[in-house]
Amino acid sequence: MELSPHATVLAGANGQGKTNFLEACYLLCTLRPLRAQRLSELVRFGREQAAVTGRFELPGGVREVEVTVADGRRSARVDGKPVRDPDELFGGLAVVAFTPDDLALVKGGPEGRRRLLDRAVQNRHPAHLADARDYLRALRSRNQLLREGAPEAVHEAFEEPLSRIGARLRLRREQLLDELRGHAARAFAEVARGEEPLQLAYHAAGRDSDGLDADAALRGEDELAGRLLAAFRRRLPRDRERGYTSVGPHADDLSLALGERPARLFASQGQARAVVLAFKIGEIENLRRVHGRAPLLLLDDVSSELDPERNTYLMRYLGELQGQVVLTTTDPNLVAAAAGSGPQSVRAVFHAVREGRIERSEAP
Ligand SMILES: Nc1ncnc2c1ncn2[C@@H]1O[C@H](COP(=O)(O)OP(=O)(O)OP(=O)(O)O)[C@@H](O)[C@H]1O
Ligand SMILES: [Mg+2]
Repeated sequence: MELSPHATVLAGANGQGKTNFLEACYLLCTLRPLRAQRLSELVRFGREQAAVTGRFELPGGVREVEVTVADGRRSARVDGKPVRDPDELFGGLAVVAFTPDDLALVKGGPEGRRRLLDRAVQNRHPAHLADARDYLRALRSRNQLLREGAPEAVHEAFEEPLSRIGARLRLRREQLLDELRGHAARAFAEVARGEEPLQLAYHAAGRDSDGLDADAALRGEDELAGRLLAAFRRRLPRDRERGYTSVGPHADDLSLALGERPARLFASQGQARAVVLAFKIGEIENLRRVHGRAPLLLLDDVSSELDPERNTYLMRYLGELQGQVVLTTTDPNLVAAAAGSGPQSVRAVFHAVREGRIERSEAP
């Protein structure tokens, strides 16, 4: 399947394989699943393994990437040579995905907002994925020890790396928010005219009780790691009772507010969607500033979830972006604007998706 340098539209009825294609693209660029919770869900039912191969035309030349998933693990090769982490994939390939699930993030639990943030961080710092994995491994060990009632000395051995990697993860998230804040606020002001301004903030667990407030992050990685370590120690008795670790970046949240009011509690459905849209546009604009070009965009049936006015805004934005974008839709008319109208018209290639097959088709 060859993607257009501009817009590639995949149109088809429900359940035909549109999202699956985006899932393959996302895995190839990030080594992470897009919507699947586990890598093993990416493998076709009844099969042992899945593989996806892609050719990338990059400023440094053409690269061929292959990602294989088997036994719940992934392995990747670039030009035939094995790589372990996305930072080895040509320093990471920036990709921003936007799915209907994202539109629910504002109102949902903190986990979804952390994922939103971490995906944005990974685009800027591909090493983030490996750190997140190491952190998770250390966290699972600590939780296991908590439930086993292991002695304090054993805990100390795990809390040291946990606090060090934890501080690094949090700092990267906060730096990304600092970069993105202005772009997102501007986009929000345009998407939702007349609303209170969008405010993005990092809300760490233990920010009031354990000295882990915004001030702690300003003092640098060593200081933050020290405070995290102290918090792990202080909370050991309580964490033992509960059987899980109650502080650290896995328990932090991205706070989204309209003016002074938390969007999670007070935003309307339409406002909540505008917040996510603004965050994504903020991310794209930030990557464009850093890399000098737009990231690859994957939009999964977003148009049908946005009201006509916001959809028009998004389509016009995409039309003017001049980046590479793949859009899926059940109704190609909804995305026609991104596909080529107006002065900055984008050359779009249309495809029909049916029963897992993708075929070139005419524009609607
Ligand atoms: N691991 C898997 N193995 C085989 N089939 C799968 C697997 N995961 C999902 N499917 C199926 O693939 C089909 C296509 O799914 P996909 O999500 O790509 O559809 P879609 O075209 O995006 O539909 P919609 O418009 O409803 O979002 C579905 O029937 C889905 O159940
Ligand atoms: Mg779908």
